Amino acid sequence: MNQSPRETDGLVPHSTTPMLQPWEVYDRDLFDLEMVRVFARSWVWLGDTEDLQSPGDFITGQIGAQPVLVVRTADGEVKGFLNNCRHRASGVLFEPAGNCGSTMTCPYHNWTYDLHGRLVGLPDRVRMYPEGIEMGEYGLVPIRIELAWNKLVFGCLSHRAPSFREWIAPLAARYDRYGFDDYTRYYRELDQEYPINWKAFVENSNDDYHVRFVHRRLNDQRRSLDTIVRFEGRTCSGYKPHPESANPSGGRVDLDDEALRGHYADFIYPNLTPLPYSTILILVRADPIAPDRTRLFSRIYGRGRDADQQEADLINLELTNHEDTTMVTELMRNLRSPFCRVGPPTTWEGRAAHIMKLVRADVATPLASDEFYDLAPG
Ligand code: FES
Ligand SMILES: [Fe+2]
Repeated sequence: MNQSPRETDGLVPHSTTPMLQPWEVYDRDLFDLEMVRVFARSWVWLGDTEDLQSPGDFITGQIGAQPVLVVRTADGEVKGFLNNCRHRASGVLFEPAGNCGSTMTCPYHNWTYDLHGRLVGLPDRVRMYPEGIEMGEYGLVPIRIELAWNKLVFGCLSHRAPSFREWIAPLAARYDRYGFDDYTRYYRELDQEYPINWKAFVENSNDDYHVRFVHRRLNDQRRSLDTIVRFEGRTCSGYKPHPESANPSGGRVDLDDEALRGHYADFIYPNLTPLPYSTILILVRADPIAPDRTRLFSRIYGRGRDADQQEADLINLELTNHEDTTMVTELMRNLRSPFCRVGPPTTWEGRAAHIMKLVRADVATPLASDEFYDLAPG
């Protein structure tokens, strides 16, 4: 049979690899699908309880493309809601953190909600809705919130997702031992946008192969440049043992041997990179903004770190983030090419491959009809 060559036949052959391919990077439809099928189904780190001490204290954030807010109520509970007014979907609270008093008022037409999200005020109600409106049906939409280790605030939009504890099960027991509630937030955070697709950054975060080249200034902190790569469920870990001469324990004896003799670069699907040490906890979150735009938001928490130590840790993290984002920004330019195909993952990219498989599996799975709307609100 006479078959004429297809236009794409001359491209580099497509190898079977789970790694991120160029056509998954700039596609707007795929990005929109990821915001719903990946992010809206996941537990996403939103902040910490240091901003939620008193009634009316709140934080705002994003779960994928969805703005959310978290607030401390008068009876001490912490509640989360979509940060969308039920009238015309305006944001209700805007600052990253603050105190809203005893109610939250939308700036557009001043509908007012109490700290439990109930609609309690609607200006000029009788003239605006002469036929009446059922106020009880227009409260803020609640979301799931988890206060992990009494410190870190995670939110989830899906009613179907497992509990946060289950979400991070492979890390849970180790994380329990650090005692993160004794760590306090550093005096400043890092917050910057880059021309990077969120998955490209996530792949880099889960790539233990590049570390010795892109962060070579850190090579003397590692024993034989060794790495133990682990991945299971929705978490991953790259453990790097320290040389015998190093002592990263910070005087602690309450962690297990592995934690005292090296350091971990962990990952919690879909967008959080925790780097836990005996005296500090680094969190780097990749917030997708557009197919080719990602915000990196980093905070450090520490046990007894003075101002100079904090600044040194922050500068070090800034440098590491810079080394990664410079490399991945360069990569993004090349991923524009419709001609290139990426190769198979090395052993030390095993967790990146694992995460890409999770992303694709979520993207391929349509939402259940009761995934977001709680059919029996409690
Ligand atoms: S959009 Fe909030 S009151 Fe109109
Ligand atoms: Fe890196």
